[in-house]
Amino acid sequence: MSATGARETILNLFRQASAGYVSGARLSEVLGVSRTAVWKQIEQLRQLGYRIEAIPSRGYRLCDVPDLPLAEELRSGLATRRIGREIRYLAETDSTNRQAYALGEAGADEGLVVIADRQSAGKGRMGRTWASPPGVNLYVSILLRPPLPPQAAPQLTFISTLAVSRAIAAVSGLAPTHKWPNDVLIDGRKVAGLLNELSAESDRIRFVVLGIGVNLNMTAEQFPADLRMPATSLLLAGGRPVPRALFARTLLEELDALYAEFLLHGPAPLLAAWEERCDLVGKPVEVDEGGSGLVRGTVSGIDRDGALLLTLADGSTARILAGDVRQC
Ligand code: BTN
Repeated sequence: MSATGARETILNLFRQASAGYVSGARLSEVLGVSRTAVWKQIEQLRQLGYRIEAIPSRGYRLCDVPDLPLAEELRSGLATRRIGREIRYLAETDSTNRQAYALGEAGADEGLVVIADRQSAGKGRMGRTWASPPGVNLYVSILLRPPLPPQAAPQLTFISTLAVSRAIAAVSGLAPTHKWPNDVLIDGRKVAGLLNELSAESDRIRFVVLGIGVNLNMTAEQFPADLRMPATSLLLAGGRPVPRALFARTLLEELDALYAEFLLHGPAPLLAAWEERCDLVGKPVEVDEGGSGLVRGTVSGIDRDGALLLTLADGSTARILAGDVRQC
C-alpha cells in the first residue's frame, strides 16, 4: 500500500469511529504493518495538519482536520464517475494548469485532478497572473479527453463556469451570475476565474485542461491592489468561511455530472443553463476584442458554439468569439 493509501485507510477508520478511539492494534491489523509503521503514518498526518490524540491504553483519535484540499479529503465520499480518478495535491506549485498540461502530454488519463494550496505563477486569461496565496482559496485543474473536434473546445468553458456557480450556490447559498465568457460574479464582483487550455490535432482534441480558481476565504487585504475588475470571495460575500475540501468535492461532483450530460446530449442544455445565470442578456455592453477594437451592442445571448451574440445599433447581429465585456 502506498503512503497516501495508508493515510487514507487510517482516516477512513477514524471516520468510521466517528470521533472515537481506534486502537494501534486495529490500525496495524488493517494496514498489515507494524505498530511502529502505524505511528509513522500518524506522525505524517500530524505534519499535514491533522490533530490526532494518542492515549496508550485506548489508541488514536482524530480531533481536527486541516483546511487543506488534500487528496485524502477530496476522495473521501467523492461521488464522481470520471473526474478525480487520480488526484494530485501539491502544497505549492507554479501553476496547476501547467502541471496538468505536462501530465496530459505525458499521457495521463481523463479525470486527473491537480490541486494546490498555493501557486507561485498562477495563470489568468490573456496572459495575466492569478493571485494565489496559500491557505485560503481553491486552485484546481482538471484533465479531460473529450472525443470531439477542437472547434468544440470553447463549449467546455461553459461547463466549468456552470459547475463553479452551482458549487458556490450549494455550499454557500449565495446566487452567483455569469459574465461571458468565463467569469463568475457575486453582486457584480468577480469570485472565480476559469482558464481552459487545449492540446489538439487538426481534427481532434488530444486533451483540455480546465483551470479553475475560486476566491473562497480571501480577506480584503489579500487581494492585489491592481485588479482589473472588482473582486470578492465567498467569505467576504457570505460572511462565513468555506471549507476548501468540501468546496472542491462539490465542484468536482458538479463538473462530473455536467460533463456526462454534455457527452450524452451535446452543449444545448448546458448553454441554456449558463444563460439563465447571465444577467447581461438584454443589457447594453461594449466588448474589447483585444487587437481588433471595441464593439458596442445589446447582449442577445450565446450561440451553440458559445460565441457572444450582440445586436448592434443598425439591427445586425455580431458574433464575438473572444474579448472582455463591460456593461455600459
Ligand atoms: C482568469 O483570468 O479569470 C482565469 C484565472 C484562472 C486561474 C486558475 S487557478 C487554477 C488554474 N491554474 C492556473 O494557473 N490558472 C487556473
